[in-house]
Amino acid sequence: MSAKKVMVVGAGQMGSGIAQVFAQSGFEVILNDVKKEALNKGKAHIEKILSKDVAKGKITEENKAVTLSRMTLSSSLEDAASCDLVVEAIVEKMDVKTSVFKELDRVAPKHAILATNTSSLPITEIAAVTNRPEKVIGMHFMNPVPVMKLVEIIRGLQTSDETYEVIQAVSEQLNKTSVEVNDFPGFVSNRILLPMINEAIYTVYEGVASPEDVDTVMQLGMNHPMGPLKLADFIGLDTCLSIMEVLHEGLGDSKYRPCPLLRKYVKAGWLGKKSGRGFYEYS
Ligand code: CAA
Ligand code: NAD
Repeated sequence: MSAKKVMVVGAGQMGSGIAQVFAQSGFEVILNDVKKEALNKGKAHIEKILSKDVAKGKITEENKAVTLSRMTLSSSLEDAASCDLVVEAIVEKMDVKTSVFKELDRVAPKHAILATNTSSLPITEIAAVTNRPEKVIGMHFMNPVPVMKLVEIIRGLQTSDETYEVIQAVSEQLNKTSVEVNDFPGFVSNRILLPMINEAIYTVYEGVASPEDVDTVMQLGMNHPMGPLKLADFIGLDTCLSIMEVLHEGLGDSKYRPCPLLRKYVKAGWLGKKSGRGFYEYS
């Protein structure tokens, strides 16, 4: 089986990036979201990134126009009826994801693969709410999707070899490098990254240093492209908290307890760059 037409569910920062790279790689893309304003914002973001690439001479005006012509917007999951592949990139909550997967399983053609961009939630549990667990898989892109080369491919307990091979081939078509990972809380990427971010939040919480100074230490001292607190703002503090909760509950070790300051910021609606405030303020 090969995939030609793709639905991306969720037009937030990840969904819009995923839709962009699929369209740039020749796939027909339906970008879906429950919120009209999210669809418009996602499309506008893609146009802005493509316009920047035109200005830099990385692509032509014609490439941009062709990419945009491959993309349509949708507010209804019924539109998955014409797709070979669905990549879900909605909020990191198991109950919301499983309700979307039940609906996708009802609507999408029998041959379609249902992939999730979850950062940490068990693929096996998401697959179990469908009647096609062998066709459910994790396709974990990194943020910002057009720039980052990695796709972490996560096999659920029942994911078939054929499904894995299709997703590996699709990742190559997107010009990404894939790594195969088994279904375990946080996979590899966030099992390692998020405890570092959480520890950086503890250093602020315990008054060891300011957010700016923690980030400077990691950026200049460890050569990270951005400090962990700026990265947390960039990922979304709600997403960071959800991942830490999955690690804490799934691995049962107190070393994964989310920092109380992270909980407090999320409760206050300080979600990072997307809400205008997190460890830093954004205009
Ligand atoms: N979309 C598309 N392109 C973008 C972009 C975006 N949102 N943000 C930046 N870029 C592009 C810029 O246009 C620029 O392109 P050119 O080289 O063609 O000019 C390039 O990226 C570099 O950008 P900048 O010069 O503006 O800034 P920078 O050098 O600081 O790079 C960065 C920005 C690539 C984001 C870099 O800071 C970085 O690598 N940060 C760490 C990113 C990271 O760790 N991502 C993983 C997050 S964790 C995750 O994704 C998993 C999860 O489940 C939570
Ligand atoms: P986001 O908050 O930017 O976007 C989520 C979008 O999903 C919103 O536009 C929202 O309206 C939409 N949505 C919510 N419920 C929906 C539904 N039932 N149907 C359709 N659309 C719905 O979030 P994000 O940062 O793009 O993260 C999305 C997913 O990707 C999460 O699972 C997250 O863990 C994962 N992820 C995030 C990052 C990151 O750095 N932010 C990296 C890799 C993976």
